[in-house]
Formats: sequence, structure tokens, C-alpha cells
Amino acid sequence: MRPRILVLYYSQTGQLRQILDSLVSDIKGKADIEYAQIEPVTAFPFPWTALEFFDAMPETVAHVPIPVKPLPATVMNGKYDLIIFGYQPWFLNPSQPTTGFLNTEFAQIFKDTPVLTVVGCRNMWLHAQEKVKSYLAKVNAQLVGNIVLTDTNPNLVSLLTVIRWSFKGQKEASGMLPAAGVQQRDIEATSRFGNIIYKHLAEDNLFDLQRALLSSGAVQLRPGLVILEQRGIKNFRFWSKFIREKGGPGDPARAGRVLMFKNLLLVAIFILSPISTATALLKLAIKRNSLLKDVDYFKQLEYQEGRL
Ligand SMILES: Cc1cc2nc3c(=O)[nH]c(=O)nc-3n(C[C@H](O)[C@H](O)[C@H](O)COP(=O)(O)O)c2cc1C
Repeated sequence: MRPRILVLYYSQTGQLRQILDSLVSDIKGKADIEYAQIEPVTAFPFPWTALEFFDAMPETVAHVPIPVKPLPATVMNGKYDLIIFGYQPWFLNPSQPTTGFLNTEFAQIFKDTPVLTVVGCRNMWLHAQEKVKSYLAKVNAQLVGNIVLTDTNPNLVSLLTVIRWSFKGQKEASGMLPAAGVQQRDIEATSRFGNIIYKHLAEDNLFDLQRALLSSGAVQLRPGLVILEQRGIKNFRFWSKFIREKGGPGDPARAGRVLMFKNLLLVAIFILSPISTATALLKLAIKRNSLLKDVDYFKQLEYQEGRL
């Protein structure tokens, strides 16, 4: 029997859809593949204004669910051998459409079903994946794999290009800066995972899938990221609460605090970043062994509450 696979995803610019298309490109002839898209009732703007972009932070971090359109009944009633779940982090948490979906009754589609998560992001995804793991555990999904694609340019370069992309809508290279987002060659190379997934499905051996995916480079993770995310998430939680005290999304009463957050974040990234990298390196040297254990944990699928 041909395995039946559902590719369920949200993608604002289409980048994640491109990654998912590449992932299944070599197995289309051997498996029955269906797509379903998560769609917010009110679409997010693209390109964003700076105020709209940073105003999305508080509710993303607080996991306030936005309404999303229902999944078609044919999809909800389908029995899938595997659901490939594509999502992206926003402000170190699952994007708002992803959280919105995971809070609906439609998330029951994951119940007792093997799930492979696919993340396409700039380069900070650990905390978001922990949250997705916890949602999936709540609906009794069986997480069987995780593939992560990031922009592998240096951190400051990827920040500049993501700013150009988000606020001008320009993904293409310009001046000294390369194209934004996940590199095209990495998107194309994602097809190598398709046959690994197919083989494990056909052999009914999904419990061994993540080991095989990891040995093909499905998750690249440096210990420094653990430290950066620990710091980032603490600050985001503080600012999320502080901004939400003044009102909900788009409320002019909170615009001052949103802009304060934006300015501080940019200062932290562009001016304090070298100092912060130096202290992170120090911490890395002191806590190397425990951070290496963290790296092992984050590459795997197990969920332990409060790891980040
Ligand atoms: C509001 C917003 C916040 C983002 N925050 C993060 C983040 O915390 N970490 C990260 O690696 N990428 C972040 N990104 C980049 C996205 O994860 C993603 O790669 C990009 O939006 C393209 O995805 P898509 O077009 O498939 O939706 C953010 C993007 C947006 C729009």
C-alpha cells in the first residue's frame, strides 16, 4: 500500500512551502501526498511596517491564539500514515497562525498519528520547537522526526537581510548583502530527506527515523544558540507582559512601548551583540559539558517541560 502523507503548514512568504515541496519532490510517485494550509482569518501584512511587526511580539510570546480557518472535512477525516507539519518561529515561539491552529479542535488531526516537524527560519528555533512539542504531546501525537532549515549566513548578515525582506519585501541579494532567508541550495538539498522518510514509512520503522535524519544533517545546532535563546526568551517575556498592560494588538495606547521594545532590541542586536557574544563564549567555556547535553536534547524529540 502506498503511504498516505499530509503536508500541513503555514507560510507567509511561501518559503516554507518551497522547502516542503522540495522535501517530498522525490517521493511523489511512491506516496499519496496531500497538502493543507493553515490560514489565519485575518492575514498578516507583508511587507510589514516596523510597528506592525514588533506589535506582533507580545501576543506571539504570550501564545494568545488568533482565529484560523477550518481545515476541510476531507482532511480532518483522512487517516494519514504521517503528517509533515511545517511551521516557523516568530519571536522565539511558534508563529501566531501556528499557535492559533494548535489551539483549535483541528489540532486533533494529530491524535495518535506520527508527525514530522519541519522548521524554516532565520536561525533561532529551539524554544519554538519546545512549545510545538508540548502542544503535540497534549493531543497525543507521536513526534517521529524534526528537520530544521536556517539561514546559514553570519548572524548580523542574516539580520540585515531579514529586515530588508520583512520591511521592503525584497528577498533577492542587493549591494553587499546576499539573498534573505534559507539558502536556495539548502532548500533544494532538502529533497534528500524524502527517501529516508519513505523508507522508514514503508518498513514501518518510524521510531528510527530521527536517527537517520540526523545522520543526514537534518538539524545543525551550535551550543551558543542555547545561551542566546535562554537570554532572548526571558527578555521577550518581560516585554510581552509590559506591552500587553497597555492594550491589545494595534491599540495606539501601547505603540510607545512597542517602539521602545523595537529600539532596545535593535541596540541589543547591533551594538551589544559583540559584548553579548563574548560573555556567551565565556559561559560556553565554563558550562561546555552541560551545554553539549542540551544540544543532544534539542536534536532529539523527547519533551521535558522547562528545558528552555
Ligand atoms: C514576526 C516575525 C518574527 C520572526 N522571528 C523569528 C525568530 O524568532 N527566529 C527565527 O529564526 N526566525 C524568525 N523569523 C523568520 C521566520 O521564522 C521565517 O523564516 C520567515 O518569516 C519566512 O517564513 P514563511 O514565509 O515560510 O512564513 C520571524 C519572522 C517574522 C515575520
